[in-house]
Formats: sequence, C-alpha cells, structure tokens
Amino acid sequence: MRIIGIVGARPNFMKIAPIARAFSATEHEFCLVHTGQHYDEKMSDSFFRELEIPEPDINLEVGSASHAVQMAEIMKRFEPVCHEFKPDWVLVVGDVNSTAACSLVATKLGIKVCHVEAGLRSRDRAMPEEINRLVTDAISDLLLTTCEEGDRNLLAEGHPRERVKMVGNPMIDTLSYMLNKAGDRNLPARFYMDPGSFGVVTLHRPSNVDNPELLKNLLGTMDIIQQQLPLVFAIHPRTRKMAEQFGLLRYLESMPNIKLSEPLSYLDFLNLYSQSKLVLTDSGGIQEETSWLDIPCITLRENTERYITVDHGTNYLIGTNRERILQVFETVMKGRAKRRGELPMWDGHAAERIVEAIFE
Ligand code: UD1
Repeated sequence: MRIIGIVGARPNFMKIAPIARAFSATEHEFCLVHTGQHYDEKMSDSFFRELEIPEPDINLEVGSASHAVQMAEIMKRFEPVCHEFKPDWVLVVGDVNSTAACSLVATKLGIKVCHVEAGLRSRDRAMPEEINRLVTDAISDLLLTTCEEGDRNLLAEGHPRERVKMVGNPMIDTLSYMLNKAGDRNLPARFYMDPGSFGVVTLHRPSNVDNPELLKNLLGTMDIIQQQLPLVFAIHPRTRKMAEQFGLLRYLESMPNIKLSEPLSYLDFLNLYSQSKLVLTDSGGIQEETSWLDIPCITLRENTERYITVDHGTNYLIGTNRERILQVFETVMKGRAKRRGELPMWDGHAAERIVEAIFE
C-alpha cells in the first residue's frame, strides 16, 4: 500500500513522528507531504530535526494567508500530488487547515482518508479548528480516536461503528519517547528559574489574542501572577504581532518576573514545562501533555475538545475571568492541585495501533 501522510502546522509534527516511524518498520510506502502552513525554523524545521521526522517528500510551501486563501492554495497544490503518487490512503492528523483541505482533495478523488485524533469536539464553531474537525470527520473513511469521548461523539453524529476505532494518543507516543532525550537540557537555568518554582505560559488562540481588551486583561492577570511565581512566556508569532499592534508588548516586557522567549523547540519546551509548577495555556495539545506528566494546567478557554484532561487529568478549564484564574492559581500554589488518573491507551504505542487499523 502507498500512504500519504500530511503535516502542516506545529501541532501536527509530534503526531506524525511516531506514525512515520511505525510505517518505516513495514513494507508499505509512506510519503510525507508538508503543506508549508508553518514554514520557519522555530515553528517547523526544528521539529523535524528533533522529532526525527523524515524530510518531507514534497513541500507545498503555501505559507500564511487568510483561511480561505490558505486552504484553497493547499487544495490546488495537493491535487496534482495525489494524481502523481496515486496513494491508497491519505492520513491526516489533528485539526488544522491542512488537515481539512487535504482530506477534501483526497476524498473527492476517491482516495481513502484516515483521520487521526478524530471525534474531538469543543462545540464552539467560532473556533476554526472545530470547523476543521467537523469537515474532516464527515468525509473520512477511518476515524481513529484518542479517547472514548471521541468514539461517543462520532457515534452520536451517526458515524457507523466500524469506521470508528480508539487507538490512543500519538502525541503521547512522542512525549514518552522524547522525555529522556529532553532530560539533559537545562532550560529553567536558561531563564534563571529554579526547577519546580516557575510557571510556563503559552497563548495563541485568535479568540484570546486578536481581541485587544481580552489580551490586555489576560496580560494583566499574568502581571499579578508573576509577582508570586516567576513565569516563562514562549510567545507565539501571532501573539507577538497582536501585542505589538495593540501597544501591549512594552507592558509585557516591563513585568520584572516574566521572561519572554521566542517559540521553543520541542525538546526545549518539554524540558522547560516538565520542570514547571504549573502551565497557563490556551493550547489543545498542552492540556494533554501536562495531564500525562501530572503537571497542573490552567486552560484559558471557555471550552475544550479534550474533556478527558479535565475528568482524568490535571486540567482546569477556567476561561479568561481574572478572579477564577487567580483562585485556581492559589489552589496550585497551596499544593492542592488535582492529580492525574487513568488515561486509557496513552501508553506510547498509539502509532502501532494506527498502522494496524489501516491495514485491517
Ligand atoms: C495554527 C492552527 C492552530 C494551531 C497553531 C499552532 C489552523 C486553523 N490553526 O494556528 O490550530 O494550534 O497553528 O501554532 O490551522 N507564522 C510565523 N511562522 C510560521 C507560521 C506562522 O511567523 O512558520 C506567523 C504568521 O505571521 C501567521 C501567524 O503566525 O500569520 C499565524 O499562523 P497560522 O498558521 O495562520 O495560524 P496559527 O495561529 O499558528
């Protein structure tokens, strides 16, 4: 069989890495297509090196643009690749624009589509990723989920049982595989922090960072927190751009106990947050990674597509209300944060089950 795997943006790379490795141990041909949605050293290249992902066979080099233009470009450039390679399957991961655009192209050409990380639902259609999830799942032939919640959502939407299979979480494959490798980096020291006594912040959702009032309020909350707990803020390009545009970058830079950093490489970031006291984030994947590592996570969103991290993990789904954030912060500071429980099939072997599911 010939399979094309798709990656486009940063959160895809840690999911494809173990899948590419698992395929390389078989006789089947696995081609990797990078759409180029994320394109620079910090958002893309460093991940390929550190996660040992093979060089993409093809890079569509679409770059940044509006959603419609970006997806249209991906579709235009991916269609001829499908004609040339004639894959039996196109495998997509996650919920970014590249995921939905490539699924559409493949399915219209009669190529089977496998969606890894299917069935997650935030039920918030203002979130571009939620639209990408709905579209991709609606047209995929094989829906591989990370948790039971994914199965339940898909079955409730009327997907036939035989198309849905829980395989576990390939991002956790990467996390468990890379944990030792990240171990000898001393990231806290790079930011003049002591292990266990600092927090890590990441923020990039358009709903948080594209709105000046909300961003100002969130930064004000960080300002209060940093007076008690020093913070490292690995700032996403979108967030830096918006903070600058709203005149908030100077304010952020003026906070004495916040260290600002460029986006960090996978291993650097892992080394950093695995030694932190807590993480404040609006990311999807980090909710899962912190849960697995048993590190308290305050999620600055009103909803999540990953409720397993709230019910069985260390995630507090808090939103952007300052009082609520500070309340949970106090709980964590007093050492009363909840601990992780059972996370079924997050065992480092999801990629093998993904390969098996496709062969079946
Ligand atoms: C995308 C994904 C989001 C994911 C996030 C992780 C969609 C709809 N969104 O959002 O799900 O959580 O990636 O980062 O697919 N930029 C760079 N260098 C790059 C790429 C982007 O500087 O390599 C800058 C550009 O100025 C761009 C901005 O970052 O305008 C935003 O990038 P974009 O890919 O449009 O969306 P993200 O917000 O990163």
